[in-house]
Formats: sequence, C-alpha cells, structure tokens
Amino acid sequence: MTIRTALLEGILTIEIARPEKKNAFTREMYTAAAEALHAADTDAAVRAVLLCGQPGIFTSGNDIEDFLSRPPGQGSDAQDSPVFRFLNALTNCGKPVVAAVTGAAIGVGATMLLHCDFVYVSDEARLAMPFVSLGLVPEFASSLLVPQLMGQRRAAEKLLLGDPFTAQEAVDCGLANAVLPASEVLPHARRVALRFNALPPGAVRDSKKLMRDHQRALVMEAIRTEGAVFSARLRSPEVREALQAFLEKRKPDFSKF
Ligand code: COA
Repeated sequence: MTIRTALLEGILTIEIARPEKKNAFTREMYTAAAEALHAADTDAAVRAVLLCGQPGIFTSGNDIEDFLSRPPGQGSDAQDSPVFRFLNALTNCGKPVVAAVTGAAIGVGATMLLHCDFVYVSDEARLAMPFVSLGLVPEFASSLLVPQLMGQRRAAEKLLLGDPFTAQEAVDCGLANAVLPASEVLPHARRVALRFNALPPGAVRDSKKLMRDHQRALVMEAIRTEGAVFSARLRSPEVREALQAFLEKRKPDFSKF
C-alpha cells in the first residue's frame, strides 16, 4: 500500500508514500485516499485531515504508465473512476483539509491543492500543471479556479504553457497560505490541523460548507465538462506520444500532428 493513514490527536494524516516513483498516484492509491477521506468525514474523532507527501516530493501526479495502460473510463464511466472518486471526496470533504507540500506538486498534485482548505509549501517546492504539454487539458475545475485566482493572463502561462509556480508565486496568487523552510512544512501544517481540536466541529463544518457552496454548482459543472474532454483526449495520438516520450526519457515530437 502506498497511501499510509494514521489517526492521532484528532488528525487523520493521509501520507502519499511512493518515493521511488516520486509519489505518482496509481488507481489503487486514489481509491485508498478516497476511502480515507470518506472515513474522515464520518468519524467524529477526526477534527481535520492532513495531506502530505515525502521529503522533497508531494506528488508527481497521475502515474504515467497507468494513464497509458489503465486510463480512466469515458463518459459517465469517467465520473466513477478512482481519480474522480478521490477528487470528489476531497472537494466534498466536510472536515478541514490541510496540505503539507514538502516538494514538487505536479499535475493532479497541484490540482488537488485547489480543493484543500490550507496549503503550506516548502521554499524548494515547484508546482506545475503541465496538462497541455502532455496533450491533455486542465482538470477538476482548474480551468475555472486558476483564472479566478490569478487572472486569465497569468493563468494562461500556467495552464497553456505549463510554466511552474514557485512557492512564493503560489502564495502570492492565493493558492497557498505560506512558504516555509522544507523541514518546517509538515510540523507547521500539523499545528494548524491541531487547532481544530479546540474549535466547535459543527460550526467548522457549516462554515466550510457555506464558503464552498456559493460556487459549488459552477465547480461541479467545470469538473464534468473538463472530465469529458480530458478522458477523450487521453486516448488521442498526441497524449500517447507525450506519455511514451516521458517513459522513454526523450522529448516528445508533436511536429506530425
Ligand atoms: N508517473 C510514473 N512514474 C513517474 C512519474 C509519474 N508521474 N513521475 C516520476 N516517475 C518515475 C520516473 O519514471 C522515474 O522512474 P525510474 O527510476 O524507474 O526511471 C522515477 O519516478 C524518478 O523520476 P525522475 O524523473 O528521475 O525524478 P526527478 O527528480 O528527475 O524529477 C519530477 C521529478 C517529479 C520533476 C519528474 O519525475 C516529473 O516531471 N514527473 C512527471 C510529472 C508529470 O508530468 N506529471 C503529470 C501527470 S498528469
């Protein structure tokens, strides 16, 4: 199992633990993380969720071999795929979710941060949403939420060109709360999560829901629209070339498309 969970002092920690593959998410890992989030939601002993990776890496995103060999389904099947179940569980989690980004957060690793409540980033971390260079499109409402955070011009640099965000840029645009030295990120995120032990859980839950509900319908619509395009593109020759190139450790060649 490459997702570790532990409940300690009211905090459910979900640790992405596959450092040999830079914490790339397989279908099994999405499923395990989704189950942990659902359990957190229903367990009164859990006051907050802490999402973390390994020293130097948060996650390199979806496992690229999985994308090639076991892509999420199309149409309504896509909504039922492990990645969707995980991201839906995160978006709908009633408990506060605190992310400790101790290193690179790429692809879905950056997308998921848009749906966390608190994000603390190591000064060495780089965040990137390189969907277009993989032949893909932004996912899980990032085509809505990233332009909302930083405006269309800067969002175009991040989503169309795939330019990375430095940790400070992530804070400046409101994607993250604070930049910290690498060794401080996890302890700080944990201290923030622990504060929920002293707060009334019903008020926390209702307040989080109110904060999210104003644009829930828009977010859900963006998720559906992007999901349909994303899963259709996943089967395109452009994506096959991009993913094969990554696995063969070469530059992709899009000149023939
Ligand atoms: N899926 C599958 N395997 C991955 C992976 C991913 N998303 N990201 C990294 N790996 C694997 C590499 O293939 C390599 O495996 P190997 O040792 O068997 O050759 C191993 O993890 C180490 O990765 P490497 O690229 O050598 O590490 P690095 O420190 O030079 O770079 C990253 C780290 C995260 C910057 C780089 O791996 C990367 O860009 N990964 C792909 C990210 C991506 O495009 N994600 C979007 C998916 S939608």
